[in-house]
Amino acid sequence: MAVDFKNSETKDNLMRAFAGESQARNRYTFAAAQAKKKNLHVIEAVFTYTANQEKEHAEIFYNHLKELSGETIHVDGGYPVDITDDVSKLLRMAQHNEYEEHDSVYKAFGEKAKEEGFLQVANSFFMIAEIEKAHGDRFGRFAELMEQNKLFSSDKKERWICLNCGYIYEGENAPEKCPVCAHDKGYFIRLDQSHFEN
Ligand SMILES: [Fe+2]
Ligand SMILES: [Fe+2]
Repeated sequence: MAVDFKNSETKDNLMRAFAGESQARNRYTFAAAQAKKKNLHVIEAVFTYTANQEKEHAEIFYNHLKELSGETIHVDGGYPVDITDDVSKLLRMAQHNEYEEHDSVYKAFGEKAKEEGFLQVANSFFMIAEIEKAHGDRFGRFAELMEQNKLFSSDKKERWICLNCGYIYEGENAPEKCPVCAHDKGYFIRLDQSHFEN
């Protein structure tokens, strides 16, 4: 049944999603800073890269509210408190939240938008839900590497790329220091996990 947007649940869900994406962006930016402090530059990059994508999601949801410009929307919502010094736990917490968005929250918001007749909004919820799944998988992959102490080492020969200067090294372990730019081991990532490189 078509519903007036001003009286819809969808406009509330869009505001909830805007709040959720905005918070995720901040949480990942804070997490990136924590990773940086621990010389885990590759994890810093993973969080920053994902934070920027959350900003884009926020903007997409926010722009769907354009016709209510000048109004205030009151909503309630549940948002996570994910504070720890343990970077691998931050990755697991992020993974958990991403899967929750994918598995339940955005799918329910999408169904509601469809039911209320806002098909473009429904499409954004469904498509962004799929991106959140990819985010969850990404965080999970790096959490697992950290938990297994494999972020910079492998059981087999790998190609590693320095995220600072682009030097590519082949070996079981990432070099302690980049021989070209002298940046720390923390800048190395498996070549096949580096975007643009495979
Ligand atoms: Fe997102
Ligand atoms: Fe996400």
